[in-house]
Amino acid sequence: MTEPAKTLYEAAGGAPTIARLVEAFYRRVAEDPVLRPLFPDDFTEVKARQTRFLTQFFGGPPLYTEQYGHPMLRYRHLRFRITPKHAEAWLACMSAAMQETGITGPLYDAMFERLKRTAYHMVNTPDEDADRPTGQGADRAGGLVGIDNA
Ligand code: HEM
Repeated sequence: MTEPAKTLYEAAGGAPTIARLVEAFYRRVAEDPVLRPLFPDDFTEVKARQTRFLTQFFGGPPLYTEQYGHPMLRYRHLRFRITPKHAEAWLACMSAAMQETGITGPLYDAMFERLKRTAYHMVNTPDEDADRPTGQGADRAGGLVGIDNA
């Protein structure tokens, strides 16, 4: 008998691993000079959303969609000006958090590859436009750049 293929979520250790990963990740984001200005003072809500998202992203139960509807992840990030530099900083925090969580080897490679593709998909602003004034506050842009400003 062949075992059914494990999801990345199961291979990583399921809910306790995702919880530790999310804690380790946002601890780094909160200290990161590039990412910090985009986030609110309180990480509670974004941690809860990210825990649910990563669970389903890696093949676990669809907790994000159950609670918040379709992820539409790129759309939900459009109110922030995200440059390649932000994607690199995000991935560096995530890579370190994965290692702290004990995710290594081929499992790390498979998970990180998916995260990398998604992070670059979130980029909506070239590096040279990072500091362009919006009239709505420099970091948390407010408007749906590219949609309602189009
Ligand atoms: C590329 C760099 C990225 C930056 C700079 C970024 C930044 C942000 C910010 C600022 C928020 C909102 C925080 C708040 O105000 O509550 C957010 C939300 C979120 N991010 Fe990212 N993010 C990035 C990439 C990613 C990636 C790669 C993923 C998933 C693999 C992801 C998943 C999420 C989720 C699930 C939320 C909550 C969405 C919601 O329900 O509204 N982000 N992100």
